[in-house]
Amino acid sequence: LLSPKPAAKMSASEDVWRKDLKMIHGYPMIYAFALNWERIEEFQSTPGDIVITTYPKSGTTWLSEIVDMVLNDGNVEKCKRDVITSKVPMLELSVPGIRISGVELLKKTPSPRIIKTHLPIDLLPKSFWENKCKMIYLARNGKDVAVSYYHFDLMNSIHPLPGTWEEYLEKFLAGNVAYGSWFDHVKSWWEKREEHPLLYLYYEELKQNPKKEIKKIASFLDKTLDEEALDRIVHHTSFEMMKENPLVNYTHLPTAMMDHSKSPFMRKGIVGDWKNYFTMAQTEQFDAVYKKKMSGTTLEFCTDI
Ligand code: A3P
Repeated sequence: LLSPKPAAKMSASEDVWRKDLKMIHGYPMIYAFALNWERIEEFQSTPGDIVITTYPKSGTTWLSEIVDMVLNDGNVEKCKRDVITSKVPMLELSVPGIRISGVELLKKTPSPRIIKTHLPIDLLPKSFWENKCKMIYLARNGKDVAVSYYHFDLMNSIHPLPGTWEEYLEKFLAGNVAYGSWFDHVKSWWEKREEHPLLYLYYEELKQNPKKEIKKIASFLDKTLDEEALDRIVHHTSFEMMKENPLVNYTHLPTAMMDHSKSPFMRKGIVGDWKNYFTMAQTEQFDAVYKKKMSGTTLEFCTDI
């Protein structure tokens, strides 16, 4: 695969496309995001901010649309007011050449702000902990995450190219992908829930019983929703609906940034797609790393579904 050429109007003063990851306090980070990192560290939250936190490709967009719908009492029209990237800005997003900045966007976002981030615990600005902001973490089976992330890196030109699937899986298992190790991420956020208002959810459970999980989200956010509102949220945020919704399927971004012809952002939205990619040897390798990295945690993860 050739690296896509950004359109002329998108060319940055510094070329940030398809660059190698840059280390930030020991974590591999997307090159463009890592520039001017102080802006992230100094970010000021407000106590009403709601943080959606995930390892990449764990269903962040899905959860974002659900939370926006919950806050708007399941009102579909209100939720169509803007694209997902504006309704739920990504804290660390920053592309200097085209002046995209999550921090700047958040300054203009009215409260209650829903803030998306993939940051590891250590990199989240201190202010979020000090203000005891509510956080919702969505975890997904690491094997499906690896497959989804591989396809995402093919279509998203701000990430380095993934190489072959074999090469990519090695990098994923070693934590040499943007935001570092999936194992460390899911584990450390799990432990954090003991000392912070944090709702820890699983993609697989959201998929299996969306209404039940949406009720948990509503209750965590002190919202009471009637049955019709809950049913509307389930319907509006189903994969089939979101895939066709241009406000949430990322087709609003320039092709030079996300090229859906390489792999659509709304790719499959299923549990267990990893079985179509992992060889027997790769499954064994993943399971061995899982066993080693996850020993000593109470986090229960089903890796063979
Ligand atoms: P796949 O690549 O496995 O299809 P994120 O938003 O964190 O980047 O995660 C993207 C993944 O979530 C993609 O997974 C995408 O298809 C899936 N996804 C997005 N919306 C979804 C929905 N409403 N239901 C189920 N999966 C969804």
